[in-house]
Amino acid sequence: MSDKKAQLTVDGKTFDLPVYSGTDGPDVIDVRGLSAEGVLTFDPGFMSTASCESQITYIDGEKGILLHRGYPIEQLAESSDYLETCFLLLHGELPTPEESKKFRDTVKNHTMIHDQMTHFFNGFRRDAHPMAIMCGVVGALSAFYHDTMDFSDQEHREIAAFRLMAKMPTIASMCYKYSMGQPFMYPRNDLNYAENFLHMMFGTPCEEYKVSKTLAKAMDRIFLLHADHEQNASTSTVRLAGSTGANPFACIASGIAALWGPAHGGANEAVLTMLEEIGDESRIPEFIAKAKDKDDPFRLMGFGHRVYRNFDPRAKVMRQTCNEVLEELGLEDDPLLKIAKKLEQIALEDEYFVKRKLYPNVDFYSGIILKAIGIPVSMFTVIFAMSRTIGWFANWNEMIGGSYRIGRPRQLYKGYTARDYPKK
Ligand code: CMC
Repeated sequence: MSDKKAQLTVDGKTFDLPVYSGTDGPDVIDVRGLSAEGVLTFDPGFMSTASCESQITYIDGEKGILLHRGYPIEQLAESSDYLETCFLLLHGELPTPEESKKFRDTVKNHTMIHDQMTHFFNGFRRDAHPMAIMCGVVGALSAFYHDTMDFSDQEHREIAAFRLMAKMPTIASMCYKYSMGQPFMYPRNDLNYAENFLHMMFGTPCEEYKVSKTLAKAMDRIFLLHADHEQNASTSTVRLAGSTGANPFACIASGIAALWGPAHGGANEAVLTMLEEIGDESRIPEFIAKAKDKDDPFRLMGFGHRVYRNFDPRAKVMRQTCNEVLEELGLEDDPLLKIAKKLEQIALEDEYFVKRKLYPNVDFYSGIILKAIGIPVSMFTVIFAMSRTIGWFANWNEMIGGSYRIGRPRQLYKGYTARDYPKK
């Protein structure tokens, strides 16, 4: 693969390690042979570990670049839409007009869920968090599509992809309707993907919901901007679960669980909770001081990113969409949104944040847009999960379609050495 070599000397013994170059990004040192030599590498948090080879998404965190199959996210947000981006992530190329039509039609053919699945919802408490419901219901899809599927067959994997893309908005909106005590709305295949989602969220059998084109466009952009993001915590979870040969619907459920935390997908919900807690512009300095205080666990939600040490390119697009949506809805004077704008301005100027390159991330703006559209806060991470499903699936598909081994990290053991059980 490469003539480059790295050398590692441990206790006087030198190992020659192959070094590989990708099409872009840092070189990687192949340490796979080390365990057989009785040496392990130590990298909690996987800051310096490339866990797989992939052709799907590329991020340059220093420069603030995000590419899907080579295309910059800004260009996709401007000229593409969510479903076309799904095709791109899955197949590696943009669709021809014929392929695009067939792809969209097939997604529409799968939007309904098996009627028996509605019974699952009744098992949840009325006040259950929609992420908890979604995690359970998506996992339950594996019970409906298990024995009939052969996932070593690319065609079967493709059907699973269609089922997921099509059914996630239906399931997501059902999670919301259940919590509201409203009847579930069936999908409408005359609407586009984002319009249909808004219809299922806000329509009722008594009254048709008139879908605003601007809001549907903003919704589609939120889906697109969250579609994939390389080997983040939830995608790595899906790959790890998939590496055992588990059912893909169960793997996606594991991704949903990993996404839920406030350090990952739960951040968009945490941003709104934080803004509500701040409550008034006069209290912003107090919260900025808390965020800087190392003895206080509080962090400014929606700021910072593990990979981006520059403006998150998705956040740039989202910021623009945010302004468009607020203008369309005449919400520029909303008190919470005013706090958000002020916070953004202060954090962008404050030395603590500037020095650490803690810019607003995609979730800072998506939370604000979703709130303006009228999506309840508890649904924010659900929408992230539904958008990211294609990224999880594309990564799972890439792994299953190639060569892979079960993921099995090791550890630096710091516990007791062997000792005898006390005699009785
Ligand atoms: N508020 C205050 N200080 C922060 C923040 C923040 N939001 N984020 C990082 N820092 C500080 C941190 O205390 C550390 O300071 P020091 O060097 O003095 O010890 C420095 O910045 C580096 O932080 P880190 O913890 O080493 O960074 P990380 O890469 O481990 O964490 C992060 C990344 C996203 C978990 C973190 O920035 C964070 O908790 N942000 C808030 C939650 C959030 O918005 N998450 C959404 C991420 S975007 C969506 C997604 O892709 O999932």
